[in-house]
Amino acid sequence: MKGFWINICGVNVVIVIFLGPPGAGKGTKAKKLSDYFEWRHLSTGDLLRNEVKNETELGLLANEFMKKGDLVPDKIIINMISNILVNQNAGIVLDGFPRTIDQARSLRHSLEDISKKIDKVLFLDVEESKIISRLTNRGRKDDDPKVIVNRLKTYGDLTQPLISFYEKEGLIEKIDGNGTEENVFNNLLKVMA
Ligand code: AP5
Ligand code: MG
Repeated sequence: MKGFWINICGVNVVIVIFLGPPGAGKGTKAKKLSDYFEWRHLSTGDLLRNEVKNETELGLLANEFMKKGDLVPDKIIINMISNILVNQNAGIVLDGFPRTIDQARSLRHSLEDISKKIDKVLFLDVEESKIISRLTNRGRKDDDPKVIVNRLKTYGDLTQPLISFYEKEGLIEKIDGNGTEENVFNNLLKVMA
């Protein structure tokens, strides 16, 4: 897995990570931010859903985890990402990756190998009641109430520890994600300035 980031060799490659619970607004804000700066938006959730839709081998395997609200194993995710990040020479917004300490370590080692670094980790903080109402109203396949409960638990167990992981590196920018789309995006732009 070492060196999977090796092809990101452009000058001034900005690397931004969105962190936050399911329904925090990572996807919608990552898209807006990447459109705004003309960076690439890379969502592991979207990539996986595409594989599921196309009924690929990877999709069929990943779906077994996704439909329950569990994480897809790290190895599969890292391999999937490595196949896509070829000759990346613009900024990149990572949405839904890394999601475990092992994924974060893998990313860190790969970036160290090529003397690149993460610029910011944007942590979208949203109240749980708001998360549940947003997800229930959206109605994606994994937005079923029981699956939402497991996604939130999985987030707490495996992804939330990344906040202190990145806090130690001074990279976390906490953003109140409870407001309107416009309000949250304006807060993001202030942090990016
Ligand atoms: P993923 O697709 O990443 O889902 P998630 O983390 O559960 O988060 P969501 O996409 O549901 O929420 P979001 O924070 O993106 O919010 P959004 O902007 O959509 O992952 C899905 C699954 O794939 C995982 O469970 C796992 O199985 C697997 N997976 C993915 N990455 C993986 C990885 N790295 N490792 C292992 N497994 C992985 O907003 C939600 C809704 O709220 C929308 O309808 C939106 O319009 C609305 N909304 C957002 N912001 C606002 C606002 N400010 N005001 C009003 N409405 C808002
Ligand atoms: Mg999303």
